[in-house]
Amino acid sequence: MSTANNTQAIVIGGGLAGLSATNTILDLGGNVLLLDKNTAFGGNSVKAASGINAAPTQLQFDQHVSDSVNTFYNDSILSAKSKAKPELLRTLTSKSSSAVDWLSERFGLQMDQLSRLAGHSEPRTHRGTHPDYPFKPLAFVLVDQTEKFAASHPDRLQIKKNARVTRLLTNPNHDKVFGVEYMDLSDKSNHTVYGPVVLATGGYAADYSDDSLLKLYHPEALSLSTTNGPYCTGDGHKMVMSIGGSTVDLDLVQIHPTGFVDPKDPTALTKFLAAEALRGSGAVLLTSQGRRFCDELGYRDYVTGEMMKLKSPVYLVLNSAAAEEVANFIKFYSFKGLMKKMKAEELCSTLNCTKDELASTFSEYNRAAKGEIPDEFGRKYFGKTPLELTDTFTVGEVVPVLHYTMGGVQVDTQSRVLSTNGNVIDGLFAAGEIVGGIHGENRLGGSSLLACVVFGRLAGQGASSTMLRRFIASSTSTASS
Ligand SMILES: Cc1cc2nc3c(=O)[nH]c(=O)nc-3n(C[C@H](O)[C@H](O)[C@H](O)COP(=O)(O)OP(=O)(O)OC[C@H]3O[C@@H](n4cnc5c(N)ncnc54)[C@H](O)[C@@H]3O)c2cc1C
Ligand SMILES: *[C@@H]1O[C@H](CO)[C@@H](O)[C@H](O)[C@H]1NC(C)=O
Ligand SMILES: *[C@@H]1O[C@H](CO)[C@@H](O)[C@H](O)[C@H]1NC(C)=O
Ligand SMILES: *[C@@H]1O[C@H](CO)[C@@H](O)[C@H](O)[C@H]1NC(C)=O
Ligand SMILES: *[C@@H]1O[C@H](CO)[C@@H](O)[C@H](O)[C@H]1NC(C)=O
Repeated sequence: MSTANNTQAIVIGGGLAGLSATNTILDLGGNVLLLDKNTAFGGNSVKAASGINAAPTQLQFDQHVSDSVNTFYNDSILSAKSKAKPELLRTLTSKSSSAVDWLSERFGLQMDQLSRLAGHSEPRTHRGTHPDYPFKPLAFVLVDQTEKFAASHPDRLQIKKNARVTRLLTNPNHDKVFGVEYMDLSDKSNHTVYGPVVLATGGYAADYSDDSLLKLYHPEALSLSTTNGPYCTGDGHKMVMSIGGSTVDLDLVQIHPTGFVDPKDPTALTKFLAAEALRGSGAVLLTSQGRRFCDELGYRDYVTGEMMKLKSPVYLVLNSAAAEEVANFIKFYSFKGLMKKMKAEELCSTLNCTKDELASTFSEYNRAAKGEIPDEFGRKYFGKTPLELTDTFTVGEVVPVLHYTMGGVQVDTQSRVLSTNGNVIDGLFAAGEIVGGIHGENRLGGSSLLACVVFGRLAGQGASSTMLRRFIASSTSTASS
């Protein structure tokens, strides 16, 4: 390979993982070619509005939250259950605080809101805003700044959208990757490019195609709608498998309990997510009889399981104080026609229950929140209480939806892709949802964005050092030949 083949890294996927890798490589002095098959960068990452986990952070300190890496690690291990991979969770949690600092310092994100999502024993999900884009999910900021950099430094960062990567280029043994082939979707032309590769192609929770990994490993899931964009088709997984790379837990798909049923299009395949932050602020889930049926802040797999046992539709209900706390979310969902504000009478007719049924549910919830009785379902954090019939409610119907694929490509703690025989594949890195095993059986809300940043940065560092190593090797061999 000539030195000219080793001056850039190739990053595939312009979501948070790919953008974290890209900016890391740029900061380390490497050049990048960033490819995305979609017409815009951002992937699922720009839909992620609940935030990113980290502990311990300055914001937690300022808000008198006493948290630690060990507490976060323990929560993650518990949630991951039998499939926990301690070494990957160690990496994830111990690098969480510096990941959030990096987002603040490098991109100017102001992490100024904290919330407690399901399965977390402390509030540690950070929501960032940027003065220039006050209400946008944090990944937008990276998309925007990365595109600006490409425009001002075309010699350092080349971006190509509408470019679908179809193949990894390897040596005959498949233990070294030195480039990719991609198709320019605008004219169907194929192109070959060289450099170490970072795969950040996301998950496969929207792959309803014939060669779908869902179909192969979790066929029942295909009957559900998805929160994912149509580009989440496991392309990276399939490319890695085709060169003998290793995968893990491909049957583990996270079904999120709260996808909004759009009254205008109830059977739509793609559904908007009712962010978990809503339940964190105090929302309850009610059946048509106006009854609760679970700890709303239990793990996602548990809440989903309880919903699937019911014959009833399920409604997400917020009181006015909770709605106030998550006002930006509510504004968006109401604008989309997914949630509606109503008084108790209308809530009863929407659900199909009596005021007495509602009153008894509310009174039990309020008493549990005050600690007078244990909560029937074991809820520990009640959010904004009390629930009162005289209040105004914000309400939407929800169903379980495909949301996240826990399984994926196997990497080590440096984001290097492993082959089925356990060796590192030289020059191939993976980060983001494509990576499997980090979250075990159940991912905690807010830990995916974190994995994108932590493993994206590790992949960026790895690709940079590969470039340098290969460049030195090729220039010494050129000099001596
Ligand atoms: C609605 C919603 C809300 C969420 N909220 C949160 C949250 O609040 N907190 C949290 O931690 N997680 C959340 N998640 C999960 C999280 O957003 C994702 O797991 C994460 O953003 C994945 O990032 P990524 O960079 O790996 O992939 P993505 O952001 O999905 O990006 C992948 C990119 O790769 C491109 N690509 C795919 N295949 C190819 C190919 N062959 N060639 C070229 N390009 C390709 C795609 O076009 C896409 O742009 C949410 C997910 C959804 C769907
Ligand atoms: C890069 O390497 C490939 C494969 O070894 C070779 O075919 C190609 O000519 C090289 N490109 C450049 C610009 O040197
Ligand atoms: C984490 O779990 C371990 C093992 O169960 C325990 O010894 C430790 O005290 C826990 N640490 C925290 C901070 O919860
Ligand atoms: C481009 O590559 C794809 C395989 O990824 C192939 O099916 C197609 O025929 C190629 N197109 C051309 C014009 O060579
Ligand atoms: C509403 O509740 C009543 C009484 O429980 C029941 O008979 C009726 O079938 C329900 N209606 C709908 C639409 O579920």
